[in-house]
Amino acid sequence: MADKPFLTDIKTLRERARKHIENGAVTEGYTADRETVVKLLNEALATEIVCVLRYRRHYFMASGINAESVADEFLQHANEEQGHADQIAHRIVQLKGEPDFNPQGLLSRSHAEYVEGATLIDMIQEDLVAERIAIDSYREMITYFGNDDPTSRRMMEDILAVEEEHADDLVNLLKKIG
Ligand SMILES: [Fe+2]
Ligand SMILES: [Fe+2]
Repeated sequence: MADKPFLTDIKTLRERARKHIENGAVTEGYTADRETVVKLLNEALATEIVCVLRYRRHYFMASGINAESVADEFLQHANEEQGHADQIAHRIVQLKGEPDFNPQGLLSRSHAEYVEGATLIDMIQEDLVAERIAIDSYREMITYFGNDDPTSRRMMEDILAVEEEHADDLVNLLKKIG
């Protein structure tokens, strides 16, 4: 039977770590295509920023009998999307990439759309659609990162779980109001 060790021996690990120390967290063992990972993370960043803007618009525009509790939900989501944007930007920098905050082209980099919505129901529906888009695209990113970039994968898994909660919150709001 082959007794090839599963792990890289300590000597090789230590030698590798000393080379290219300026790359920080990006070591020789990083097997993902870094440029593609950064590009995908920038798309996720744009998606989060568009979601922050849309939820904040909805927060300020919410009016009607049910407005207060819905507005609170919009604001909470907006703040959580901002937190996601910050996490993603931080990871991009760790990977020696540059987070793209350029407002030009933001909407075309984003997977989710910016729809203002005329009524409270419209707003909730549009937010739900945006969450469902994010859920599908983040799930694909997670599969792509796989075992090549477990840190980016785990971060996106945590974010995905929150987007699923958001979608669930919005469905419940629709039931309550509609
Ligand atoms: Fe988010
Ligand atoms: Fe969300």
